[in-house]
Amino acid sequence: MCGIVCYVGEKSAKPILIEGLRRLEYRGYDSAGLAVQNGNEISCYREVGKIANLEALVDGKSMEGSTGIAHTRWATHGEPSVKNAHPQRDQEENVYVIHNGIIENYHLLKKQLEKKGITFRSETDSEVLAQLIAFYFDGNLADAVRKTMSQVEGTFGMGVIHRHVPGQIVVARRGSPLIIGVSDEGHFVASDVSAMVRYTNKVVHLQENELATVTADDFSILTASAQQIQRSTETVEWRAEDAELNGFPHFMLKEIYEQAYTIKNAFRGRLEPGEGVPKLGGIMPVWEDLKNCRHMVLVACGTSYYAACVGKYIFEKLTEIDTEVGLASEFRYRKLNFPSNTFVVAISQSGETADTIAAIKEAKRKGARLLGIVNVVGSTISRETDAGIYNHAGPEIGVASTKNFTSQLITLTLLALLLGRHQHLSLTEGIQAIRALEALPDQVRELLGQSSHIEAIAEKYFHCANWLFLGRKYNYPIALEGALKLKEVSYIHAEGYAAGEMKHGPIALINPEMPTVAIIPDDEMHEKMLSNIHEIKSRKGPVIAIATQGDEKVREIADDVIEIPPILDFLTPILSVIPCQLLAYYCAKFLERDIDKPRNLAKSVTVE
Ligand code: G6P
Repeated sequence: MCGIVCYVGEKSAKPILIEGLRRLEYRGYDSAGLAVQNGNEISCYREVGKIANLEALVDGKSMEGSTGIAHTRWATHGEPSVKNAHPQRDQEENVYVIHNGIIENYHLLKKQLEKKGITFRSETDSEVLAQLIAFYFDGNLADAVRKTMSQVEGTFGMGVIHRHVPGQIVVARRGSPLIIGVSDEGHFVASDVSAMVRYTNKVVHLQENELATVTADDFSILTASAQQIQRSTETVEWRAEDAELNGFPHFMLKEIYEQAYTIKNAFRGRLEPGEGVPKLGGIMPVWEDLKNCRHMVLVACGTSYYAACVGKYIFEKLTEIDTEVGLASEFRYRKLNFPSNTFVVAISQSGETADTIAAIKEAKRKGARLLGIVNVVGSTISRETDAGIYNHAGPEIGVASTKNFTSQLITLTLLALLLGRHQHLSLTEGIQAIRALEALPDQVRELLGQSSHIEAIAEKYFHCANWLFLGRKYNYPIALEGALKLKEVSYIHAEGYAAGEMKHGPIALINPEMPTVAIIPDDEMHEKMLSNIHEIKSRKGPVIAIATQGDEKVREIADDVIEIPPILDFLTPILSVIPCQLLAYYCAKFLERDIDKPRNLAKSVTVE
């Protein structure tokens, strides 16, 4: 959702904040703003649209000062407009606040403040924070923020400055991430490390219901009940260049290409080929219970949910565990009743998705043990779960998730293989799976070599307004993910279907203007998929097939074929999803869409 970046130190704040906003833009991009403080002067600018608009607005404007806060917004309350952009101010313009999250009781608080004669200027829930902090302020900013925290319901990551407290930023969190960055040239606070990784890799994670007072030389953390907390810094492994385009036109394309080595990073150091079993240090704290687990629930949202859906098939193949999947946004409202020793596995790139966090909290209340499959180290889900596995995919900046998906499939496979080897899988099967995993990076490289062929296919069909994606078993979720990718970045309407369901409805849509992407690897589903392709061709629908190399039967019937290298059936999704990602990317390119920042979307959905 929204992105927050703050700086207090020796340097000029303005360029640091603008640079930080650019790196956080994927979190929200309908409006942005910044406030820079110099003594008792605060200069504040806000603009609608992308960060580039704000940059143009402040270009040439003198904004002296080395303390500042900045925000890029994804609107929840109030349309994207200058008055609703952040920083929000109190009526006297002493307090400036940036906020990520939702203040659920803002109506009530606003009414109470209005009764006291306080005038509101925006339609946002966030303005109530600025007005309340100003109301409680009696010289100690942290105290005023703490009192405000006790009044508000909902979620927040906030950064606050006060005209009469120069050189100090107070930040607070409940439900929305905030990370303090420590460097010799001052301190940073941001929603994620990408905003500060250019300056420092030493960070401190603020935890739930904590606030911190940050100055150029120091920071101190307090709980909501004013207890002082000592926390040492951690070192993050992401490098500044990970968050650069490095010659690619878009992060989405860069991240699709990175998959050859991000896949490897997901299993690097975790395979024991001789034993046919993976090593997963992160789950050792729960291993005694996990190895006897007979019921598992994979919960997630968006693309991570489709990884969970593939995971279910992989668990069914490799283990004896009864595995279920749940959309986190629905799961949290279900009447949950878990058999004993159930593990709920939260799958999330960001580790901050509000619905996924709520789902695991509910699962914990109902007695389940929790595992996390997460990319962002130190994120909320990685902390709230009993144990977990990191994807090690590096920062994913493109809003449409790509490389993280394939890493999630690898980590899910490792977990299933480990459990399966403690159940019924033989050494030979274990070794075979490990060899197949090790072969993947080269196979991905080979597949990426077909990019220009896939681009040509996209050029042939990007004008078509409706697409269908079909798959079966392991590749049914890839049909869903392929359709999602196309929708997200090109705005073309696409539906993903289990191919067996085609005759129950979607076949009515087939016509020469509606391409079908049929995912048909050489597996046990091949003949059935082939029949589906024939049914589409008889109705003059164009077919783009994603098939195993050398599949002559598919070549004879499909209009276009994208070949994937041969691999074990349960690993085919890791390869078949890549042509889907590239098709979506190139269609969006031909349609001149804003590929890394599709309209209305945000990378990290930290509100319900
Ligand atoms: C948003 C993103 C998707 C992502 C989903 C879940 O909708 O745009 O790309 O798949 O959130 O995010 P998570 O961080 O939990 O994987």
